[in-house]
Amino acid sequence: MSIQMVDLRGQYLRIKDEVDAGIARVLETTQFIRGSELTAFEAELSEALDGVGTLGVANGTDALQIAFMALGIGPGDEVIAPSFTFVATAEAVGLLGATPVFADIDPETFNIDPVAVESLITEKTKAIVPVHLFGQCADLDPMLELACSHNVVLIEDTAQAVGARYKGRAAGTMGGFGTLSFFPSKNLGCYGDGGAILSPIPEWLDQARLISNHGSRKKYHNEVIGVNSRLDAMQAAILRAKLPHLDAFTKARQEAAGRYDALLEGVSEIQTPHRASYGTHVFHQYTIRVLGNDADKRDALMSHLKSAGIPSYVYYPIPLHLLPIYRDNPDSCRVGDLTQTMIAANEVLSLPMHTELTAEQQEQIADAIRAFSRA
Ligand SMILES: Cc1ncc(COP(=O)(O)O)c(C=O)c1O
Repeated sequence: MSIQMVDLRGQYLRIKDEVDAGIARVLETTQFIRGSELTAFEAELSEALDGVGTLGVANGTDALQIAFMALGIGPGDEVIAPSFTFVATAEAVGLLGATPVFADIDPETFNIDPVAVESLITEKTKAIVPVHLFGQCADLDPMLELACSHNVVLIEDTAQAVGARYKGRAAGTMGGFGTLSFFPSKNLGCYGDGGAILSPIPEWLDQARLISNHGSRKKYHNEVIGVNSRLDAMQAAILRAKLPHLDAFTKARQEAAGRYDALLEGVSEIQTPHRASYGTHVFHQYTIRVLGNDADKRDALMSHLKSAGIPSYVYYPIPLHLLPIYRDNPDSCRVGDLTQTMIAANEVLSLPMHTELTAEQQEQIADAIRAFSRA
């Protein structure tokens, strides 16, 4: 079996009966939009995440947009987010006419640095969006304190970290809102697009629910401008089949990460992922650094692995503030000192990581990295 970044088929085959039964149930009822599968999934997801309120939506990008809309974020407002993330984290901020403000990261965890966040807060700040990147929580307590003292809302972008914990608490449940993505390659992925909004505040979740369904509670009685963003029943049924396996999926990823750590120990100029003492890491990605702040050197390792039949990927080669959408429009964002962000973009390399990865495959990957390091 060739080595893959993600093995969706291998995982599907292991849980095929449960997934197929879920799909068959939906076909039998032909209740494709909203309905009992979605309601049941929302309840089961809530139970898995410490009882937080949940709302299924069409994808993780919409989840963020709807959370911003529920808070009334718009022109003149600022939202602080990392620049070292996927574009979706900040995309809706601009879409709603507000301004993203990009903060630097902690070099150990790749997550937004609370000290950098504090330095960027102004009277225009309405929200802080830490991203729990690669499967590990950002250091939330200092940011929760900042949010409280400055009367701004913390929104946890938990697209990559469902199942992770911060000081015992479930990722996505600690801020005013949390958002999830069920994109197929995510730790809890569906078989298409999907996402969820989490909130411990029932009124805020109600507002998000209203917005996600055309701004109407009652058909043809639209109260606010909304969007059409619902998690469809087929995806909800697939997620219901997968959710009971999430802990086992997480364990498989953590075990694979532990094997990588051991196999790569002592390889010069390679740094393996740091685990913050405050929480658990669910290894959406296993991301190493190729030390030296030199993208060419990192890319050379990537090419070397490719020639050995091993895929790897750079998440993320271009920090958001340097994407054409922001770089070419100086007024479209505000930036802090992004030194650590720039270094990370030059050094990171994500290795194959999924629930089906075998020890033999990892040995092959580590041997290839060792050979590169010696050359
Ligand atoms: C950090 C982060 N935020 C948001 C998203 C958006 O999720 P989706 O692809 O479901 O819209 C992703 C998904 O790739 C992500 O990685």
